[in-house]
Amino acid sequence: MALSSEEIMNIQKTANIVDIIGSYVSLEKKGKNYFCICPFHDDHNPSMCVNEQRQLYTCFVCHATGNVFNFVQNYENISFIEAVKVVADKIGITLSEGYKTVSKYEKHYEATELALKFYQNNLKSKDGSYARAYLKERGLSDETIQEFGIGYAPRENDALSKLLINKGYDENLLMSIGLSSKGNVLYDLFRDRITFPIHNASGRAVGFSARIFYESDDAKYINTKETVIFKKGEILFNYHRAQTEARRLKYIVVVEGQMDAIRIYESGIKNVVATMGTALTMEHVKLLKKLNVKVVLCMDSDNAGEKATVTNGELLEQNDVDLAILRLSGTKDPDEYILKYGIEAFNTAVSNAVSYFDFKLNYLKKDKNLNKVDDVTNYINQVIAELNKTKDDVLINLTINKLSEDYGIDRNILLNKVIKVEPKKTKVIEHQEREKLKKNQRLSEILLYYLMNEEKYIKLYEQELSYIPDETYMNIAQDILAFFIKYNYINIADFITYEINSDYYTNVLNIIDKYANMELNDGDFIGIIDKIKTWINEKKIMELKNRLKVVTDMNEKLSITDEIAKLKKGCVNQ
Ligand code: CTP
Ligand code: MN
Repeated sequence: MALSSEEIMNIQKTANIVDIIGSYVSLEKKGKNYFCICPFHDDHNPSMCVNEQRQLYTCFVCHATGNVFNFVQNYENISFIEAVKVVADKIGITLSEGYKTVSKYEKHYEATELALKFYQNNLKSKDGSYARAYLKERGLSDETIQEFGIGYAPRENDALSKLLINKGYDENLLMSIGLSSKGNVLYDLFRDRITFPIHNASGRAVGFSARIFYESDDAKYINTKETVIFKKGEILFNYHRAQTEARRLKYIVVVEGQMDAIRIYESGIKNVVATMGTALTMEHVKLLKKLNVKVVLCMDSDNAGEKATVTNGELLEQNDVDLAILRLSGTKDPDEYILKYGIEAFNTAVSNAVSYFDFKLNYLKKDKNLNKVDDVTNYINQVIAELNKTKDDVLINLTINKLSEDYGIDRNILLNKVIKVEPKKTKVIEHQEREKLKKNQRLSEILLYYLMNEEKYIKLYEQELSYIPDETYMNIAQDILAFFIKYNYINIADFITYEINSDYYTNVLNIIDKYANMELNDGDFIGIIDKIKTWINEKKIMELKNRLKVVTDMNEKLSITDEIAKLKKGCVNQ
């Protein structure tokens, strides 16, 4: 990032969040605070509060929270830096030269945007009449064609390359963004195809998927190759349009093809993205997780789609995404399904989507003849293997009951197979430890929230504790301290800006999100400090007990036991 934190923080201090948010939505003053209809969910009563003193906004319903930049960023669906630029413009601050180099790929984006416009205009021209007829035949409305920026790349060899060269873009740039290639002469890579622009998460056009629309042996789609701005594994088609609606409705539909996404979107379900035919990557999962909503995975109906459901489902499941599986039948893909059965039927199918576990149980039955002993044995072992991945007792019990009924096998035999891998006793302990961990995480988060708010809490923390036994939280505490030492004050709005480049930025936003409405109170803070002290003690006791197991020297054993006793007393006193 080329802009310095100082510069960004200066903009933040000059801008008043009330004026900036007020330029987007209408604010009403009640007491010290301002209120408005929250633009980030389907709000009917004003549930967003804008706090002028703290320069923060918080929605009591959907918990959207942040500083002035976060608001603009989410409202306009742009990047943080772009939001800084918007706010600077609004208050009349000119950004340093730095901004221009913020993205070293600005020219790449510009040229891609020009190509998009060029293709779009072409679709409307006489040349585009066949392409238009094809799109009409597929039932896409003019509004949809416009909204998705669908275009037509003309037949000529170099119509686009020529235009962009004339506008001053050089050959190398055009080749590097995958629009042109060069043999003897420069030529266009997309010719005589319908073009679907692909945007990144901040809504900038970064590439194209181009479809043939007449009988041909050529590939149905050709896509922009991997470029510095277009990485297929990091982009979900339609993500930038879908995210607000996904957050509002608390789910997102994931399909394979862009035509499926467009059809679903046009039918009114705007919270849909497409993987563009590739397997989901960790980057895709991160994008989806950021939304914090249920993912409804709806791959094509064929065998390939079923395999994709297994691999994608497994990855989402492993990454704790709230997941539902939708398998359509009767047509090849969601696009055809909606054309054949209507959007209502699709909507019903979405509400009937099953858990990944249920899908897997069914999937494992495929290609097996469950009248044959071998196949049944095989099936049951595979299901048990699935059960061993889950910690959900209820699910385990229900499944075992069903297997026992369906195949006439003694319940205890089945249960034993699960229990062997996961003894009941350790499960209880594990559960207790998880609960404890959650409690301690909560303590740390509240502590950090206090620190971000007032310097007196930073000072108290330094005197009383100056340590949190968890690396992430400890690092955030260090960042707060670093901010305080550098600027000699603390407030959340500025600290968010300071953290923008930190690995912990999302953690910080999450903490604010969770506790933004919490009243600060000295007594409570002392209580938190005491509890963290107990946590530290318990951790030390655990470590000492572990050492006790390996130490052989009697004197050392005695001194460790002594130390443990002392620490235990410390815990009791608190
Ligand atoms: N795809 C691709 N190259 C191909 C075929 C497919 O990149 N040769 C990608 C496209 O992004 C496409 C997705 O994989 O949207 C799914 O492919 P497919 O199901 O074959 O296409 P549809 O989405 O059904 O497209 P259409 O309805 O236009 O035929
Ligand atoms: Mn299709």
